[in-house]
Amino acid sequence: MRGFTTLVWALPALVAGQKPQYPPAFPANPILPSSINYAPSVTPNVMDPTAPNAQVVCPGYIASSIEETTTGLTADLALAGPACSAYGNDIKDLTLSVQYQSKERLAVKIYPKHLAPSNQSLYILSPSLTPQPEVQYGSSKSASDLQFTWTNSPSFQFRVSRASSGDVIFDTYGHKLVFEDQFLELVTDMVPDYNIYGLPENLRGFRIPNNFTQTFWNAYNLDNDQELDVNSHSVHPVYLETRYGNGSSLSHGVYARNAHGQEWLMRDSSITYRTIGGSFDLYFLSGSKPADVISQYQTGIVNTPYLPAYWHLGFQQVRWGYQNWTNLQDVVDAYAAQNIQLEGVMSDLDYLKVNRDFTNNPGHYDIEPGKEFLERLHANGQHYMPILDPNIYVPDPTNFSDAYPTYDRGVELNAYIRDSNASYYIGVLWPGFSVSPDFITPQAHQFWTEQIIAYHENLAFDGFWLDVNDATSFCTGSCGQGRIEENPIHYPLAFPGDANTSVAVDYRFPEMFNVTNATEAASASSAMMSQSIMYPTPSATPTPTVGRTLATPGVRNLTYPPYAINNFLPGHSLQKQVISPDATHNDGPFNSTEYELHNLYGHTSGNATYNALKAVTPGKRPFFINRSTFSGSGNFSGHWGGDTNSKWGNMYFGISQALQFSIAGITYFGVETCGFNGNADMELCTRWMQLSAWFPLYRNHNNRNTIAQEAYRWATTAEATRRIMNFRYSLLPYSYTLFHRANVAGETVLRALAWEFPDDASLKAVETQFMSGPALLVTPVLAPLATSVQGVFPGVAEGTIWYDLYTLQKVNAAAGENKTLDAPLVHQPIHVRGGYIVPMQSAGNTTKTSRTSPWSLIVALDKNGQAKGELYLDDGISLAPNATKNVEFSFTNNTVHATVSGEYNDGLPLANITIAGISSHTHRVSVSLGGKACNSRGAKFDHSNGGVLSITGLQHATSGGAWSGDLTVELQ
Ligand SMILES: *[C@@H]1O[C@H](CO)[C@@H](O)[C@H](O)[C@H]1NC(C)=O
Ligand SMILES: *[C@@H]1O[C@H](CO)[C@@H](O)[C@H](O)[C@H]1NC(C)=O
Ligand SMILES: *[C@@H]1O[C@H](CO)[C@@H](O)[C@H](O)[C@H]1NC(C)=O
Repeated sequence: MRGFTTLVWALPALVAGQKPQYPPAFPANPILPSSINYAPSVTPNVMDPTAPNAQVVCPGYIASSIEETTTGLTADLALAGPACSAYGNDIKDLTLSVQYQSKERLAVKIYPKHLAPSNQSLYILSPSLTPQPEVQYGSSKSASDLQFTWTNSPSFQFRVSRASSGDVIFDTYGHKLVFEDQFLELVTDMVPDYNIYGLPENLRGFRIPNNFTQTFWNAYNLDNDQELDVNSHSVHPVYLETRYGNGSSLSHGVYARNAHGQEWLMRDSSITYRTIGGSFDLYFLSGSKPADVISQYQTGIVNTPYLPAYWHLGFQQVRWGYQNWTNLQDVVDAYAAQNIQLEGVMSDLDYLKVNRDFTNNPGHYDIEPGKEFLERLHANGQHYMPILDPNIYVPDPTNFSDAYPTYDRGVELNAYIRDSNASYYIGVLWPGFSVSPDFITPQAHQFWTEQIIAYHENLAFDGFWLDVNDATSFCTGSCGQGRIEENPIHYPLAFPGDANTSVAVDYRFPEMFNVTNATEAASASSAMMSQSIMYPTPSATPTPTVGRTLATPGVRNLTYPPYAINNFLPGHSLQKQVISPDATHNDGPFNSTEYELHNLYGHTSGNATYNALKAVTPGKRPFFINRSTFSGSGNFSGHWGGDTNSKWGNMYFGISQALQFSIAGITYFGVETCGFNGNADMELCTRWMQLSAWFPLYRNHNNRNTIAQEAYRWATTAEATRRIMNFRYSLLPYSYTLFHRANVAGETVLRALAWEFPDDASLKAVETQFMSGPALLVTPVLAPLATSVQGVFPGVAEGTIWYDLYTLQKVNAAAGENKTLDAPLVHQPIHVRGGYIVPMQSAGNTTKTSRTSPWSLIVALDKNGQAKGELYLDDGISLAPNATKNVEFSFTNNTVHATVSGEYNDGLPLANITIAGISSHTHRVSVSLGGKACNSRGAKFDHSNGGVLSITGLQHATSGGAWSGDLTVELQ
């Protein structure tokens, strides 16, 4: 590691003259007519000056029949005046239920008092879809951290406060409760300049501005999937609030368990929470530190993140445009030749036969050569994960050669979502007119599992990434009805190289490419110009506008509800680019519609896919990442951050996005490294490979009409990647332990500085640095043309010591100082926090070989000359490992102690211990393992300047396995 201080970073380009890759043209199928492509626009109520203010026009409710118990209370709520019908039909009678569910958790539920069984699913989000916690045994009002108070004057209002101090954390006093069939509203007052975090998914700053509207409606933006500040692929209605004062802080959490389209309006002194259906199902968490709130949410409500397999922590490469197995093999070989770790390759849509699930593209991705490819890959400890989409091509019934047995099987099982008129809902996705499995039904799970098992029998793939499950459809309504004879149609998109497209090549480059690569930038810009002359942009289809929908008594308007949430798609229509809200499900008496379930399609399709993968490899942890998620998805899936752009700004916001998902319990998160849309350049890709090396999911993914961007494409990127991956792979034992802690206790892997140093108000909005676990501070370079970067070193005022991870030299930083750190291109500043012991193994070419290296420890001493740490071990793949091991490390009185529990033994010795911040000299060590003295012959000692003691050659002493018993290494 010391060698890294000598930096050679002006290396010549490895691959000269990169040209955009032209993908093969798609078959010249008929293109979907634009007439069925777009839903009409809606006048957005949010911006309509004549739209009613529900707080003014609605009467609120009055509570009566209060019944109190030791664990809470129930009451009736009756509408306190004439119905206002602001954006729907007022529900006259409601039930209030307050539950002191545990010491830290208070639940407040408000739902219709009279619910016909067939009506329930409109208002009550079933616990089978996402967890709904109950009162824990032994909890009571008197033992609660939180307190619920209410009043009836002038109408029902409530407060949640801290029992100890009376601090109000949620406060509807002064505001009315609004409960209609298609519109619910609740307003809470907030403290001035409040600090809230979370509410993923959104590309925006980490600390949510006090003037921000968060809309929740899962959607995919084909033109720019990375628009800032708008609704995105996931819905997690949970926030963390931190209040600072007197040199300390208190944090709490709020979770609103509702899957409907909704909006959170953050304003100066209040938050307005609105949904277009469901009920109020609110959970308040007492914290009182950020890490407590996050853990309470995960352990108490949505379930903790799953434990990834060890190999999931390796690096993966994918691009749309790898045309055949040979292309994939070439990529695998090029990574090996460049000595860059590669754990897996993935396929984008290219491997499929005309984009149909569970097929292989003939002549490109045939099964037999695929089997040979996978055998070679698996023999090297590497993996293959193709894309999967939850839509099933509907074959043309008049064309025998178009037969698609997968579709037929789903019909046999009645496994698809229906149109309101009882036939199947036929939308458009990559294969053409397609249906969507109805994942809330058992028959759809059966269908999916059968198909996945059968496909795996053909080709032993290692996991899936499930895409377009937002739930996306590229036309309006069941547009394929009566026209499936036209299949296979071409989706309505301009694709490079296709006939009738308006864009041939993507000439977009990162910011400042015009400075770093002036000549190429100039030629790209003129090429872009001539392309736009050759292929003029077609004029947009005019979209009719509908006026504001008014509430109709007794009727819900599913496609144009009276309250129009601010969906970013043109016209804010809920029908745009999704399965229409009036599509119906096959759930017996309920006949639920997409209106209730839209935001759950990613969650339910993800759950079905995860379970199918478990059936494919029984007893093993599946590799599974999901594009669209909901509260609770982290328990079975990872997530990637959508189609990023190859822009510095997109790379920047990935950090905030990762931290949002840490709150939400989706630990296995990463972004499309080097950017998906547009061309990367050497500098951006270098910095992004460095940044993503800290993200749990580490993959490079590229679009097909852009230049290649694998980590080996530029010599400098390759060198920087080798250096940072050396850290990532050496630190696998540390990261895997963090995942274990996340899995058992709801801790986080990526952390905001504000969570590790919760009392320092100056850190409340830091989003340019982050921590990996408690011990490592990452200061990434996020701007072009930089050779240095600024960063803070938290805790210095209280005596925290930081060491440069490369040299283990103490950082000389003043409290609050924004310190300038050297960061030439191949170098990323990383620091280790005094007081921590970090277990490591030297990096092999895969996670598998890395796991066979002898152990080493970095011991970073705190101001008292002490440190601690931990290590979790198991076989790295079993869902229920038959042996595990926990090692607790400490360093006190010049002795390293490792206290072990559990039976797992990897048999590997401890070879090296490096201690940072030690002043005394050591010439001998005395080692004891399991109470027996060991021979430490061969140990070598090197004291370098700056208090670094490096002990090497210890492996003889612990050759039977360093953690086979309690271990002490005493320095003498
Ligand atoms: C919101 O607040 C931020 C900073 O607090 C400010 O920069 C921004 O202009 C505000 N935006 C609006 C729309 O008021
Ligand atoms: C694979 O695709 C490449 C284009 O990337 C082509 O040159 C090559 O001939 C193909 N190989 C096979 C075996 O199909
Ligand atoms: C390069 O492009 C940026 C926009 O990305 C612009 O602000 C800047 O002025 C350009 N610089 C030069 C030298 O053309």
